[in-house]
Amino acid sequence: MLDPVSGPPVGPHVLDDPALGRIVKSSDEIAARIAELGAQITEDYRGRLPLLVCVLKGAFVFIADLAREIHLPIEVDFMAVASYGASTKSSGVVRIVKDLDIDLAGRHVLLVEDIVDSGLTLSYLRRNLLARDPASMEVCALFVRQGNQKTQEELRYVGFEIPPAFVLGYGLDVGERFRNLPYVCEYRGEG
Ligand code: IMP
Repeated sequence: MLDPVSGPPVGPHVLDDPALGRIVKSSDEIAARIAELGAQITEDYRGRLPLLVCVLKGAFVFIADLAREIHLPIEVDFMAVASYGASTKSSGVVRIVKDLDIDLAGRHVLLVEDIVDSGLTLSYLRRNLLARDPASMEVCALFVRQGNQKTQEELRYVGFEIPPAFVLGYGLDVGERFRNLPYVCEYRGEG
């Protein structure tokens, strides 16, 4: 039963947690790469009004920083999909938990993803959003895991390619934990 005063069990401070492994990308490296992505997007979308579509929950930290590196008028909308749940394995099943508020017809859509692993989530989302008749649709993914893709998805903007290990932080979680780490590190498992 939950303690009514302190809420769910908290455990050690996240930075001391033995589940956290090697740092894969530091916050400085992430910030520098996002500045480059933002500059490129600014260049590419000059004269258009891009609609950034954030795929919750994992991309919420990334889009907050990316949006501020795009020096153009933009709009932002959010959708939530469920993929892994509390596990680290892809179920291959994608479910829209919250849909967009804005109509995509005639819009220049930039889909902002945290990490592309098997590519199944992205493949589903791309088909779903293209059916809404946008003027254009491109994808910006902060991370792509090397060698795991089951589909050939075209990614216009990629932050980093990373090795196979499961990672945490900067919006990425395991069982809803560690999203608030300012860097990205490997997950060592729980014990
Ligand atoms: P895919 O459908 O296999 O490409 O998985 C994409 C989704 O799974 C991402 O949007 C994340 O939410 C989640 N995911 C994949 N790899 C990781 C990881 O290393 N850490 C945390 N979440 C991940």
